[in-house]
Amino acid sequence: MNQATDWPAVEKQYYAPTFGRAPETFVRGQGTRLWDDTGKEYLDFVAGIATNTLGHSHPDIAAALYSQARTLVHTSSLYHTVPQLELAQLLLDDTCLDRIFYVNSGGEATETAMKAARKHGKLNRDGAYEVITTNRSFHGRTLATTAATGTRAYQVNFDPMPEGFGQVEYNDLDAMRAAISDTTCAIMVELVQGEGGIWPGDGSYIEGLRELCDEDNLLLIFDEVQTGIGRLGSFYGYQHYGVEPDIITLAKGLGGGVPIGATLFKEDACTLRPGDHGNTFGGSPLMCAAAKVVVEAVQGPGFLDAVIAKGQRVRSGLEALRDTGKVFDVRGVGLLNGVQFDSPDTADHVVAQSRADGLILVKVDAATVRLVPPLNVEDAEIDQAVAIIGGTL
Ligand SMILES: Cc1ncc(COP(=O)(O)O)c(C=O)c1O
Repeated sequence: MNQATDWPAVEKQYYAPTFGRAPETFVRGQGTRLWDDTGKEYLDFVAGIATNTLGHSHPDIAAALYSQARTLVHTSSLYHTVPQLELAQLLLDDTCLDRIFYVNSGGEATETAMKAARKHGKLNRDGAYEVITTNRSFHGRTLATTAATGTRAYQVNFDPMPEGFGQVEYNDLDAMRAAISDTTCAIMVELVQGEGGIWPGDGSYIEGLRELCDEDNLLLIFDEVQTGIGRLGSFYGYQHYGVEPDIITLAKGLGGGVPIGATLFKEDACTLRPGDHGNTFGGSPLMCAAAKVVVEAVQGPGFLDAVIAKGQRVRSGLEALRDTGKVFDVRGVGLLNGVQFDSPDTADHVVAQSRADGLILVKVDAATVRLVPPLNVEDAEIDQAVAIIGGTL
């Protein structure tokens, strides 16, 4: 570590300026804790944007990466390797899904799902190609997933958007029904809108989407990039809602911090055939070895029950801050939670003051802060985080 280097200045010189970055330069992590290059310690309630499922530097992930790195790192998608097949069994056995395609990011997972949906439209719906998504949704930053994303601000600089995407209001079944036409091939939603502000889907809405898709032979895609792998207190979010999708997408929490994602299909929805799709790095043995550790832990005894209890602890701690008059709403499922403040200024102040007090938080919209700690966060850490926010208010 070189404490004399001004790393933010280096970033300004070299990086494409796409992110508004926080001032810290982190050099070490352990569990729910991070340390910056001045040695300051922080509680991490961002967790790599809902990604570090088992916290930082988990010894079993480190051991799996080390052992796999010394054995076999990469062979390309052309060949079988054992970790990817073992992971496929873990991800598919005892679920409603039958097949997997490995990718490297959430955007690639949703792009893959939408290609499969267009092929479904070609084969089974007279060439239908439109994917209907929802306002405030987030599905990625590739051109097609940007077109699917329900925030116009992400699109305007790249118009014209690719054809075949449309958005309607979330949690509004009538609006979705009205938007379906002969050109529709699929509906894609998040079970809890994450980037859009932590808006949980209503149970009746999610059930209704299934019925709409069944009536018109459309594919139902759940974008579980943020909700999958235990985040909602069920292994997949669809299990929390009790509604079977045709396709789900995964990334974020799957690798516990290493970049791996996947698109999972029911047999009939797996329309992709040789030559239709592919990638170079998907399902690399190195990433799959790490993901296996994560998945085995999340599927282990008591893990998901603990996520549910910890999520309730987060929400009741935040609810108790309503007395301050500054908390407008507390929303979430499992350990995907948000607190909406009375104004953007309050939200900005909470993020800045929490940082000074040793708690990392991030906003999801103007006035809402997202709390997405590692799934094995300790009760005392939750209490500490809530106390820091309360202290600021
Ligand atoms: C629901 C959802 N889908 C897709 C993505 C895109 O994932 P990535 O940033 O890994 O491409 C995100 C990222 O926040 C997401 O929350």
